[in-house]
Amino acid sequence: MSYTDKHFEEVRKAQQNAYAPYSEFKVGAYLLTKDGKTFYGANIENAAYPATICAERSALVAAMSQGYRPGDFESITVTVDSDEVSSPCGTCRQVLKELCDDDMPVYMTNHKGEMKERTVAELLPLGFSGKDLNN
Ligand code: THU
Repeated sequence: MSYTDKHFEEVRKAQQNAYAPYSEFKVGAYLLTKDGKTFYGANIENAAYPATICAERSALVAAMSQGYRPGDFESITVTVDSDEVSSPCGTCRQVLKELCDDDMPVYMTNHKGEMKERTVAELLPLGFSGKDLNN
């Protein structure tokens, strides 16, 4: 399913669950599965900063914890409150590469409703994956 207003409405709801007392930079993620289920993610920060979990990974880990597997995901929508649309961090790109199809769309939005779309492979060209371990 391509991007719709619903994706934006849902990801903005997901963002409300962010726990970001340190950066005050709230991020939401809205993950859709190919069988029509949805998962919300939000960034969950920690006073020990590196223990922070990004919104994208929180949604993917929630879905995997419910039994979804690599290849089951249809799209992920992310939102921030910046004037510019921002894109997933390097760690999240690597996790997207592990769990999602290379051609899965990542919809990146901001508080103004602007949206940029890229595939997982476009966000992590020449990315490392399990295939590399077998070569
Ligand atoms: N953050 C995300 O949730 N996703 C990203 O891809 C980029 C960064 C969060 C982590 C931290 O809570 C805050 O944004 C500032 O870096």
